[in-house]
Amino acid sequence: MEDLLKKIEEYKHEITAFNVTDEKQVEDFRIKWLGTKGIVKAIMGEMKNVAAENKKEAGRILNEFKLFTETKFEELKATLTTNNTVTGSSIDLTLPGNAIPVGSRHPVVLMRNKIVSIFQRLGFAVAEGPEIEDDWHNFGALNLPEHHPARDMQDTFYVQTNPDWVLRTHTSSVQIREMEKGKLPIRMLMPGRVYRNETVSARSHCFFHQVEGLYIDENVSFADLKQTLYFFVKEMYGKDVKVRFRPSYFPFTEPSAEMDVSCFICGGSGCNICKKTGWVEILGCGMVHPNVLSNCNIDPNKYTGFAFGMGIERPAMLKYGINDIRLFSENDVRFLKQFTAAT
Ligand code: DAH
Repeated sequence: MEDLLKKIEEYKHEITAFNVTDEKQVEDFRIKWLGTKGIVKAIMGEMKNVAAENKKEAGRILNEFKLFTETKFEELKATLTTNNTVTGSSIDLTLPGNAIPVGSRHPVVLMRNKIVSIFQRLGFAVAEGPEIEDDWHNFGALNLPEHHPARDMQDTFYVQTNPDWVLRTHTSSVQIREMEKGKLPIRMLMPGRVYRNETVSARSHCFFHQVEGLYIDENVSFADLKQTLYFFVKEMYGKDVKVRFRPSYFPFTEPSAEMDVSCFICGGSGCNICKKTGWVEILGCGMVHPNVLSNCNIDPNKYTGFAFGMGIERPAMLKYGINDIRLFSENDVRFLKQFTAAT
């Protein structure tokens, strides 16, 4: 009994002097003193050696020693938490959370997605091509040989390091890339950015976006073209919108047309947007020229097809009431933020 009391006194000294600076030391303390193979457990085991008349007193002392050790353990844990608060590394659960700002889609992307999703419902797949294009894909294969006057319709940016390279002036170049793959039939939608050497103003920019469409199969006719584009317009602008085709010219289509819709701002009575005509031009289209099919090793006697191309910025400006095309590329957060909830 004497020995036991002495031992406990020594242990208590050791415990009292113990201090910690990190969690590992607290855990070491627990293992050493309170663990299943720890000192407290071991010393409890010595009860069996205590003489019967001392058992009651020894039990009280041992229990008190156990409580003493457990209290120290709790204190050590608490010191650590307090220290951390002082050094600022603890988590204060009462602080308000950081706000997560909601991003927004760019209006050009919103409009592109709208266009794409309508054609996807008709079975059109989506493809993309490079923005730096060679002369053949941007011009030659599209029936615009060198010195063809229609090349001047689009003021081209040339890439200085290679006289054969241009920044593509239209997404029609992607038509060629799709046809060259030789997998028929083709039902593709090809959105992307295009470049033209034009003076930047509120109404025109040196780069903008287009969506190109291409459908090649046996027995595709102009009636299919009209039906497809009618469907698109009704889905896009509503079923009351009127449509008209005007004969036009593109080297890569024959016959070619431009499609107008009745002005969806004034309803056709005449306003600034439609320049008092009641009509807004939305796209160019036509039957793919036999030369273009041949250039891509597609037999024009077996296959026919139609193509169309439309800009994205103009319809986006009309839909969202944007009056300056330059806003699209300035990345002004005050402008972009307005589209957080837009669809
Ligand atoms: N590439 C023409 C342009 O940029 C648009 C266009 C017209 C595309 C007729 C076509 C088409 O596919 O058939 O102005």
